[in-house]
Amino acid sequence: MVGPENNTIVIFGASGDLTHRKLIPALYHLYANKMLPTDFAILGVSRTAFSDASFRDKLKKSLIENEKIDTERLDEFCNHLYYVAINTSNSAEYVTLKDKLNELEQKHETAGNTVYYLSTPPSLYGVIPECLAQVNLNDESHGWKNLIVEKPFGYDLESAQSLDLQIHACFKEHQIYRIDHYLGKETVQNLLVMRFSNAMFEPLWNYRYIDHVEITSAEFLGVEERGGYYDGAGAVRDMFQNHLLQVLAMVGMEPPSVINADSIRDEAVKVMQCFRPLSEEDLNKNLVLGQYTESMVRGKQLPGYREEHGVSEDSRTETYVGLKMFIDNWRWAGVPFYVRTGKRLPTRVTEVVIHFKNTPHPVFGVNAPENKLIIRIQPDEGILLSFGLKQPGAGFEAKEVSMDFHYEDLQETNMLTAYERLILDCMKGDATLFARTDAVEACWQFVQPILNYKQNPEHLFGYAAGTWGPLEADQLLHDDNRKWRFPCKNLTNTDYCEL
Ligand code: BG6
Repeated sequence: MVGPENNTIVIFGASGDLTHRKLIPALYHLYANKMLPTDFAILGVSRTAFSDASFRDKLKKSLIENEKIDTERLDEFCNHLYYVAINTSNSAEYVTLKDKLNELEQKHETAGNTVYYLSTPPSLYGVIPECLAQVNLNDESHGWKNLIVEKPFGYDLESAQSLDLQIHACFKEHQIYRIDHYLGKETVQNLLVMRFSNAMFEPLWNYRYIDHVEITSAEFLGVEERGGYYDGAGAVRDMFQNHLLQVLAMVGMEPPSVINADSIRDEAVKVMQCFRPLSEEDLNKNLVLGQYTESMVRGKQLPGYREEHGVSEDSRTETYVGLKMFIDNWRWAGVPFYVRTGKRLPTRVTEVVIHFKNTPHPVFGVNAPENKLIIRIQPDEGILLSFGLKQPGAGFEAKEVSMDFHYEDLQETNMLTAYERLILDCMKGDATLFARTDAVEACWQFVQPILNYKQNPEHLFGYAAGTWGPLEADQLLHDDNRKWRFPCKNLTNTDYCEL
C-alpha cells in the first residue's frame, strides 16, 4: 500500500485534551508502526505559551503514562514535534505560523503539504480557515492543504449551513475532512464488507425478511470533565446526530458501484435523505429523552447529571435518547429502526442487532426462536448469528443456538484505532471515511425537529445511573410487542449483565 507523502500536521488547540488523549497517541503509534511518511513535522498551535522543548516534554510524559511505548522510537518521534503560540482568532498573528511552516518545510522536506487539524472549541471552526486563507495558507499551488474539522459540525441545521458556507469560502470541498470517529472504527467499516462481499446476507437485507433493527450505543461513564461542553449539547447533538446516524446509514445504504469516496458517500447520503421526517406525532410517540440521576452502582455512589462538574443544577439536558424511526424507501418500507444512546448505562457497548422475521408458517410451534444477527462494534468486537435448532430428545422442539466470530481470533491483530486510520487517510487524500457536506446537512435536517422538541422541559424523563435509561424507552418497544436486547460486555454472554 502506498504511504502518505511528507507533510506537516498542524494541530490547532494543541494544549487541549483531545491532542494529548487521542491525536498525539495516534500519531505516535502510526510512527512506531512505520506508517507515517519518511519525513514529517507535527506543529502544535494554541494560545498557551510553550517552547518546542516544553511541548515535547509535556507530550512525552503523557505518552509514557498512558501508552505502551518503545523508548527509542518515542525519542525519535518527539524530535518531529514543534510548537508555536498565537492567538488563533487574530489573522495578523498567522504570519508567525507561516514563517514556522516555511522553516519546517525546509527542515523536513514537506514540499508544502499540510494537514490542518481543528481541535479547538467549535466557535473557532469558521475563524481559523478564514485566517489561514488571509495569509494564503489554503493555497494548493505549492503542496496540498487538507483541513480536518472535529465534531460538532454546527449546533443545528442553520448553524451547520452557515459554518459550511464560511469554510467553503476559503477551502474547497475536496480539502475538507469532517471527522466522525465512528467511521474510523474497523467494525463500522466491516458493516460494508460484511454486507457487500457476502451473497448470503444481502438477499435477506430488506423489509421482506427483516422485522426490525436495533442500534445501541451505551456508555457506562458519565460526562466526566466535559460537563461545560455537554450541557450545551446533550446526547442528540453529541452522539445521535453524527455517530449513530452514520452507523445507521451503513446498515441501510444501497451497495456502492465501486469502493471510493464518492460512491460510498453518495449511497450514504441517499439513505439519510430517506429518513422519514419526524412529525409532531412521531416525536410524542416515538422519542424518549432522559437524564441520569444519582444512584448506587456496584457498591459505588454515582452522582446525578446535575451534580456533575460544569453542569447547571437545574439542567434539562438529555443524557439519553431513544428513537423509533423509519427509512422510507423500497428496501426498508415499514421496518422500524430503534436507536438509543446514553451515558451512565450499565455497561459500555455499541452494537447493531438485525431481527429477522419468523418463518411464514410456524410448524415447530409458535415460540420458535427468532433469527438474529448481532454486529458488535465495541467492545469484544465481532458477530453473532442466532437461529433455531432441534432440541435434542423426543419431539420437534426448536431451541436457540448461535455461531460467533470475534475479531481477536484473527491472526492480524494490528487494528488501527479510529484516529490512526482517519489521520492516515487524510494524509493520503482519501475522504471515504469522512462526512461529506450533504450528509452532515441531511442529518441535521432530520434531527432539527428533535432539537425543537427538546426545548420543552416536560419532554425529559429521569433514569437512575447504571440502568438502561427511562422506563418509557422500554415502553417504546413493548408497545410493538418487542424488547431491547440486553447487551453485555461480552458478545456471547447474553444471560449475565453487570446489573
Ligand atoms: C464522542 C462524544 O464523540 O464519542 C463523547 O463526544 C462520547 O461524549 C464518545 O463519549 C464515544 O466514543 P467511543 O469511541 O468511546 O464510543
